[in-house]
Amino acid sequence: MSKGSVSHTIDTRTVLYGVFGDPVAQSKSPLMLNRAFAVTGINAAYAAFHVTPSMLKDAIAGVRALGLRGVNITIPHKVEVMAHLDAVDESARMIGAVNTIVNDGGRLTGYNTDGVGYVRSLKEETGFNPAGKRILVLGAGGAARGIVYSLVKEKAKEIIVANRTPSRAEELAASIEGATILRGMGMNELVDILASMDLIINTTQVGMHPFPGQTPFDVSLISPHMLISDIIYNPRETLLLKEAQLRGAAVHGGLGMFVHQGAYAYELWTGQSAPVVAMRQIVEQALAEG
Ligand code: ATR
Repeated sequence: MSKGSVSHTIDTRTVLYGVFGDPVAQSKSPLMLNRAFAVTGINAAYAAFHVTPSMLKDAIAGVRALGLRGVNITIPHKVEVMAHLDAVDESARMIGAVNTIVNDGGRLTGYNTDGVGYVRSLKEETGFNPAGKRILVLGAGGAARGIVYSLVKEKAKEIIVANRTPSRAEELAASIEGATILRGMGMNELVDILASMDLIINTTQVGMHPFPGQTPFDVSLISPHMLISDIIYNPRETLLLKEAQLRGAAVHGGLGMFVHQGAYAYELWTGQSAPVVAMRQIVEQALAEG
């Protein structure tokens, strides 16, 4: 049996799952979720479906018609998919994106597990509690929205969103409600506020494979009291995290967010807790093998 295969026979009772994306061939979700089902002994199988934008509506109708129990949604469908669902849970609606669908007898509900996955990973791997903290989020895209939403729920004291396009940062900051002080700014204003931050999170693509030689801001501004977090997990340790360690700061890599967003989806689908250790291990192995 190869490492990512299901451990049981696929039969008439096998419950089906999948990920819809364009492209989707690079996704590690099938490997991770099939491993999870194998470890827990659930008769299920999870496949990758290359769904182009023009076929998204039909693909979602297919979830109902064929009775897939759950689907993950990835680039570029996370926003558009909402129009084809029966319900969208409150957090996904606030974030404005869905990455997980649960099918209850033909009724499809959309969720967003990215932000919760991020916070679980952060707490588990670093012990950092966002409550009462000052946090800087770099980037204002879909991933940033989920993370900011979850950090507000965790009662962060202040969140500054900094983005290459400042208007997007300001829009994000204005659109999320809660007790947290929220504001947006351009990357050029960072120098004034960085020293007072407890946690800095990179959600931009800067430093990601195949361009690992860049950092999203001037690393000489990093001090030892900070926790530096990067949601990129390829490479496993970005240049930003390497530079942060050299400057005595604590670091948090992106693999845990990926594992925990999948684990939370697994919980929504099965009602059981996910085998997180086994899930992380198989993704780590696949990334190491390239
Ligand atoms: P995701 O879903 O991963 O968040 P996204 O919604 O496309 O992806 O958002 C990408 C984020 O990375 C944006 O904040 C983008 O900045 P802009 O809003 O100015 O486009 C940021 N980003 C991408 N490439 C960047 C680069 N080379 N330098 C700085 N920021 C970059």
